[in-house]
Amino acid sequence: MEKNSKKTFYITTPIYYVNDVPHIGHAYTTIIADALARFQKLAGKAVFFLTGTDEHGQKIEKAAAEKGLTPKALADSVVGRARDLWKALDISYDFFIRTTMDFHEKGVQKLFQALVDRGDIYKGEYKGWYCVSDENFLPDDVPLEAEGYKTCPDCGKKASVVSEETYFFRLSAYRDKLLDLYEEHPEFVRPQSRLNEVASFVRAGLKDLSITRTTVKWGVPVPGDPKHTIYVWFDALHNYVTGVGYDWNPELFQKFWPADIHLVGKDILRFHAVYWPAFLMAAGLPLPRTVYGHGWWLKDDTKMSKSKGNVLDPQALLRVFGPDPLRYFLLREIPIGQDGNFSHEGFLHRVNSDLANDFGNLVQRTLTMIGNYFGGEITDPEEETAEDRKVRTDFEDLKRRVFGLYDACAISKALEEIWAYIGIVNKYLADNQPWIMAKDPARRRRLARVLLQAAAAIRGASYLVFPVMPGSAERIWGFLGEGKKPADVPYDGLEFGGFGSGRKVGMPQALFPRVALKDFLGEETAAPEAPPNVRQEQKKEGKEAMDIITYDEFKRMDLRVAHILEAERIPGATKLLKLVVDIGAEKRQMVAGIAETYAPEDLVGKKLIVIANLKPAVIRGVESQAMLLAAITADNMALIPFFDRDVPAGAVVK
Ligand code: MSP
Repeated sequence: MEKNSKKTFYITTPIYYVNDVPHIGHAYTTIIADALARFQKLAGKAVFFLTGTDEHGQKIEKAAAEKGLTPKALADSVVGRARDLWKALDISYDFFIRTTMDFHEKGVQKLFQALVDRGDIYKGEYKGWYCVSDENFLPDDVPLEAEGYKTCPDCGKKASVVSEETYFFRLSAYRDKLLDLYEEHPEFVRPQSRLNEVASFVRAGLKDLSITRTTVKWGVPVPGDPKHTIYVWFDALHNYVTGVGYDWNPELFQKFWPADIHLVGKDILRFHAVYWPAFLMAAGLPLPRTVYGHGWWLKDDTKMSKSKGNVLDPQALLRVFGPDPLRYFLLREIPIGQDGNFSHEGFLHRVNSDLANDFGNLVQRTLTMIGNYFGGEITDPEEETAEDRKVRTDFEDLKRRVFGLYDACAISKALEEIWAYIGIVNKYLADNQPWIMAKDPARRRRLARVLLQAAAAIRGASYLVFPVMPGSAERIWGFLGEGKKPADVPYDGLEFGGFGSGRKVGMPQALFPRVALKDFLGEETAAPEAPPNVRQEQKKEGKEAMDIITYDEFKRMDLRVAHILEAERIPGATKLLKLVVDIGAEKRQMVAGIAETYAPEDLVGKKLIVIANLKPAVIRGVESQAMLLAAITADNMALIPFFDRDVPAGAVVK
C-alpha cells in the first residue's frame, strides 16, 4: 500500500464514553495503541496518536441526570480522572480530543452539511426499537419477547420504541462500494476472520441509517434545523478527522490523514468498518488503512463492563506495581484479536515469573557481578568464543524478528520471542558460572567477556521491550550507564556492540516487585468483597474447609520412583523441561515446569517421584506421560523432593 511507505503513522483509540472512568478493558485498547505508537516512532516515523472522550448523547445525558450533574460537568470530572489514569499508565498520546470541543462540533456540522449538499442525507420518518445504553437501533431480526418488548442483543437491556422525524444517511447506496473496498483492500479489517463477518453483514444488504434525534438534547445541533441533534455515532466517528486537524489545522490533517490504524473492540467494529468508510466515501475523504478489532477482557467468562458490574479498576494494580507489569500482562497474555480472562492469579504469575524471575533477576545478577568483580567497569575482555558470538547473533536475529512482529501488531508474539532470548542469556550465565570464574584470577578476562556479553544482551532486550515497558527499559538503560534513552535510538541504529567495554555501570535497584498472592490480597481485601477468583484462591490456601479424600481415593494414584535419563529445554518455553524417565517397567516422556529452578544437566541421573497413571496431556506440542511432585514456593520456584539414599526406579511410593 502506498501509505505504508510514508514516513508518518497515525493511530487512534476509540473515544471513551464519559458515563464512568475507564476500566481495564478500556486501558487495554489504549495500551496497545501506545505500544504501537512508540514502536513506530523507533522505526523513524512521525507519529500521531489520538485518544479522547465521547461526551454527547442520551447515555451521558441519563448518567448525568442520575448523578444530579449537567452532562458537561460529568464529562469534565471523568475526563480529569481518565487523563490521570493514562498518565499513570505511561500513555504517550499526542492529542486528547473531547467531542464537546468547539472545533469538533463545527467540523461535524460541516461534514453533515457536505453530505446534505451531495444528497446523501435526506429527511424522513423513523420508527424502530432503540437501545439507549448502546445508542443504537436494534436490527430488524431481533424477536419480540412474550411481554411485548425487545431486548438489545449486545447489552441485554430492554429496548424501547422510538418514532420520530429524522435525517437519514443513504447507507444503502454504499453496499457495493464497501464490498469492493473489502475485496481490494482485505487489510482494511483485521484480523481476517472479522473481515469475513463484516463483509457478510454488508452483503446481506444495508438499510439507510437514521443519523439525527429529536428526543436527545445533549448533542451537536443539525445545521439549520436545531430541533434535531446529530446521532452520537455520526458525531463520534468524525473525531478521527477533527482530532487531526480537519477544518482547523490543514497542515496537520494533510500530514497524517488517512489513519493507519483505528484500534477498536470487536463490539464496535461494525460502526468503524461499515458506517465510517461509507461516511468518508460520501464526504470524498481518503479511507483509513486498517480497522483492527481486538478481543475483550473477560472476568469470570463474561465481558468486563460497567453495566454488568464486573469491572476491575486498574488503579488498584497500578498502586502496587506501577504501569509496566500491567502493560506487559495485557499485551503478553493474548494476541490482539482474541479474548482473555483476567485473574489476579494469572497476573501475579506473569509478574513473578516473567518479570521478577526471568528478566529482573538477570539484570540484578549481572549488574551486581559487574559491580562486585569490576567496580562497575568491565575492561579487557577476552575475544568472543563461538558461544559468546551466539549470544550476539541470536540477538541480531531476534531484533529483526521482533521489529517485524511489532510492525504486524503481533505484540504478544514479539514478547514471547524476547523472553525466549532472555532464557538463552540466563542459560548462558548458568553454563558459564561467572561466580565460580571470579574465584580464579587466571580467568579474569574470560569473566569480563561473559559479563560484557550478558550486559549487552540486557541492553538489547530492554530496547526491544521499550514499546511495552517504556519506564523499565529506561531504568535499565540508566543502570547500564547508557547516556541515551531507548526512545532516542532509532531501531536501525541499535547494535549489540553498542554496549562496549569501559562503560561505567551502576548498581541496580529493585526493578519488578515480586508479590505473593496473599500479600496482594491484603491490599484487595480493603474492598467490600473480594472478587470471585480471589475467593477461590482463599479456598486454595486453606482459609475455608479443606477438600477431604478417602484412603481409597488416594490409593488410585500410582506414585513411582522415576530415574531421570534425559533432560532438555523446550524451544520457546522458558519454564518447561522435557524429561525422559525410567519408571521400572518402561520409559516415559514428561513435560515439567521446572526450568526456572533446575538446569537440565543437573537433573540427569537423579531420582524423583512421579504420578504414573495421570491421563497424558500435550503441553507445547510435547506429550507428557507422567507428572512429577514438587513444592511450589511463594516466588514460584518448583523444588523437587529427592531421596536421601538410593532407591530402584519403579519402586512404589505410598
Ligand atoms: N464511545 C464509543 C466509541 C466511539 S469511537 C468513535 C464506545 N465507548 S466505550 O467507552 O463503551 O468503549 C470503548 C472501547 O473500549 C471499545 O473499543 C470497547 O470494545 C472497549 N472495551 C470496553 N470493555 C472492554 C473489555 N472488557 N475488554 C476489552 N475492550 C473493551 O464504545
